[in-house]
Amino acid sequence: MIVTTAQLFKHAYGKYAVGAYNINNAEQAMGLFNGCIQSKAPFIIQISKGARKYTDKRMLEGIIRSADQIFPDAIFAVHLDHGDEETCYDCINSGFYSSVMIDASHDPFEKNVEISKRVVEAAHKKGISVEAELGKLGGVEEDIKVEDGHATLTNPAEALDFVKKTGCDSLACAIGTSHGAFKFKGKQSLHFDVLKKIQDMLPNFPLVMHGSSSVPKDEVDRINQAGGTIKDSSGVNIDEYLPAAKLGVTKINIDTDGRLVWTRVHREFFRDKPAEFDFRPVGKIFMDEYAKFIISRNVKLGSAGQLDSLRASLKK
Ligand code: G3H
Ligand code: 13P
Ligand code: ZN
Repeated sequence: MIVTTAQLFKHAYGKYAVGAYNINNAEQAMGLFNGCIQSKAPFIIQISKGARKYTDKRMLEGIIRSADQIFPDAIFAVHLDHGDEETCYDCINSGFYSSVMIDASHDPFEKNVEISKRVVEAAHKKGISVEAELGKLGGVEEDIKVEDGHATLTNPAEALDFVKKTGCDSLACAIGTSHGAFKFKGKQSLHFDVLKKIQDMLPNFPLVMHGSSSVPKDEVDRINQAGGTIKDSSGVNIDEYLPAAKLGVTKINIDTDGRLVWTRVHREFFRDKPAEFDFRPVGKIFMDEYAKFIISRNVKLGSAGQLDSLRASLKK
């Protein structure tokens, strides 16, 4: 069942974080739905601009509508990840999305406010909620690369001003993470001090953590042992998800880790079976492994086991 992102946030706030997982194809969708059903977790499906272009935006919509029928017990929201203004309007007008993210975080504060506010006005007319971003994460997103020195943490006082001025429904904050597989040099921890100050400024307001993949060392080692050359990677400590959730982080974005599962499964499969050329056997393994990965993350997010309580609260 597709619900609004606001409904998921209301149930989760301060108790657990909802996992927001990116999908690009049917195999990811099957692993994601299976993992969330097995762990009884609500979730958010994220679709990036790149994912919408990869095959066709209608293909993803079709996959998600089908998955909704195949897994009638699933409760989830559909979200545009890192939208620009034009893509936000396209999603708002499609009638399919529960929420959109307008990412104008690379613009100066006032311009970010101006753009985000316009999107909020358009989205709210259609009952769709908006995630906006303040602060700059490091790392790579589709067409934007932020060098380490240019990443900036969210300023808590500015966060309050930004939310008031834009009317956004949730705020993506920069608290030390970055996108991709190379997040930390040296000490590996979230900036809980900054997060606490943001929550003090914005009590009961859902915060979002991007760049939350953990980049498991054993996963990267297996990829490298099977011919990969992923060096010096590091990610977020999964034991920090729940403490962050208690400080208002209600949505935690995980994409890179799923790509690592895909890469490990496919590298090992074709290394061990060099004469194989059928994609279904390896696709099956990936769907199972991705489901297992999703279960493990939902447990750490605290979203595992919340489905029945959420369902009951939606009926009230
Ligand atoms: O933050 C970006 C997400 O990981 C999506 O990545 O734009 O390559 O689909 P993508
Ligand atoms: P990761 O690259 O850490 O998986 O972050 C994903 C993300 O923030 C999607 O918006
Ligand atoms: Zn992101």
